[in-house]
Amino acid sequence: MRNQSKRDIGSRFSNREDAERYRDRFKSGTRKWAHRCEVRALERALAAVGDSVRTIVDVGSGTGRFAPVLRGHAKRLIQIDFSKQMLDVSREGFSLPEDSGAYIQADARRLPLADNCAELVFCHRLLNHVQDADDRRSILAELRRISRRYVVISCLTAPTWIRAVRWISTAVRRRNPVAIAVDTSTLLREAVEAGMKETRRVPIRRVFAPCEFHILTKSLVFVVQCCIAV
Ligand SMILES: C[S@@+](CC[C@H](N)C(=O)[O-])C[C@H]1O[C@@H](n2cnc3c(N)ncnc32)[C@H](O)[C@@H]1O
Repeated sequence: MRNQSKRDIGSRFSNREDAERYRDRFKSGTRKWAHRCEVRALERALAAVGDSVRTIVDVGSGTGRFAPVLRGHAKRLIQIDFSKQMLDVSREGFSLPEDSGAYIQADARRLPLADNCAELVFCHRLLNHVQDADDRRSILAELRRISRRYVVISCLTAPTWIRAVRWISTAVRRRNPVAIAVDTSTLLREAVEAGMKETRRVPIRRVFAPCEFHILTKSLVFVVQCCIAV
């Protein structure tokens, strides 16, 4: 993965070393505090959507940083990621028996799950890295399709100076940084175009590039428009 000219989010974690590095950075490294902040915000977002639900799907679940929190809120947690290595690390860290968990290697643009199969679909730190607008639209459409009620997404961006520091640091280590591909307002507009509406925001951090979890539900206007179109 070193020295590759383009660091695409879909291929960035395709080896074990990168997967373990990602896990460790959030567990005990430079992103430890960010992880704690995100966990607290997710707990607030889950409290906002109400009682525990039967199934949650985490799309782009990575090393399963949120698996204990999500599983605490649902009877069954399905983790989906493009990278087998990320799923392996997740399974090793928080193993779920078959009746309460699944680890599926799949592409978020074509999820191998039935319509309305989960009450809540969670997708964090994935969409903001997806460069191609059509890919983002495909992912948003899939999140909406498999969700019976809620879709929770985020769009994290770091302040310019932090991005500059990261860029220099990755360049020094001869790695290419992963670009932030989209801003929050564009992503939310694309979510609306995919047939969802924002019902609530839960702050993840309030200073230095504030960001939130966006709780979306299916838009009735969109359903009516589709029916009319048919
Ligand atoms: C920045 S990590 C975030 C992981 C996790 N959500 C978290 O916050 O710790 C992005 C994850 O999305 C996965 N990913 C990238 N493209 C994907 C795709 N098209 N379908 C499914 N997963 C994808 C990557 O393998 C990686 O594990």
